[in-house]
Parts: sequence; structure tokens; C-alpha cells
Amino acid sequence: MAERTLAIIKPDAVAAGVAGEIIAHIQRAGFRIVGMKLVRMSAEQAGAFYAVHRERPFYGELVRFMSSGPVIPIVLEKENAVADFRTLIGATDPAEAAEGTIRKRFARSKGENAIHGSDSPENARTEIAFFFAESELVG
Ligand code: RTP
Ligand code: MG
Repeated sequence: MAERTLAIIKPDAVAAGVAGEIIAHIQRAGFRIVGMKLVRMSAEQAGAFYAVHRERPFYGELVRFMSSGPVIPIVLEKENAVADFRTLIGATDPAEAAEGTIRKRFARSKGENAIHGSDSPENARTEIAFFFAESELVG
């Protein structure tokens, strides 16, 4: 059965003009786009989205970065979408990301790392609902 995950093309990649290349890469890997939008998150929204990290030393920097410019949240569907998408994007730090992964190719640093992917099916459901109403997703 198809599973859904949430991707976000982060401000660094949108500003660098590589969102199109990243979307093509995701589609070639077999993910179906069922929702997509361009949004500029406020600091409050970015802080709420990454609230799980609020005690971490990088939280302030992460909130500033994620609200620094437009991002592209995308809902993706595929069998085993959550785990397969994490494999496709690669390790958090591009220096540790495998060859051929999105972060290896497009990320500049551990903080500004081009793309987000949900880390569990449960978090994927919460994160999808953060950005999208059910009526904004295609069946
Ligand atoms: P994401 O949630 O964005 O998909 O990234 P992730 O699971 O690979 O990594 P996570 O531990 O959830 O961290 C969330 C985001 O915070 C920034 N970060 N900076 N400077 C640092 O040491 C550091 N560590 C994490 C990154 O933007 C990371 O993707
Ligand atoms: Mg994460």
C-alpha cells in the first residue's frame, strides 16, 4: 500500500534555483507528487514545525534559516515512502551523505542542507497536516 511522506525544499536550495532539479530527481526515483506549494514560513511557524528540537543548541539557527526565504513543501506517495525518501536525501551532514543523494549533490552544510524528509510515518502525517488541508492533496 502506498505511504505518504513530507519533503521540504529548504530556503538554500530554492534561493540557489535548484528546486526544479531536485523535484525531477525525486520523480525519477519513483515518488508521486500529491501536494505542493511555495510558502514563506514565519519564525513562529518554523519554530513550531521543528519544535522537537527546541532544546538543541542549533534550534535558533534552524528557525532563522527555515524562515529566511521561501520553501517548497511537497507531499510524496510511494510504497515505503518515509524510509525510501530518507535514503534518497542522505545524511543530515552533506559531508557524510552517500554519493548520488540529494544532500550530497545540493547541500552546503549540516545546517543548510537543501531538503527535509519526515522521519516516521506518524511524523509524516503530522507534518503533512501542518502544511496541507486534505482538499489540497490529489487522490
Ligand atoms: P530534517 O528533519 O530537516 O529532514 O533533517 P534530519 O532529520 O536529517 O536532521 P535533524 O536531526 O532532524 O535536524 C533538523 C535540521 O536541523 C539542522 N541541524 N543543524 N548545525 C547542526 O549541528 C545541525 N544539526 C541539525 C539541519 O537543517 C537539519 O536538517
Ligand atoms: Mg529530522
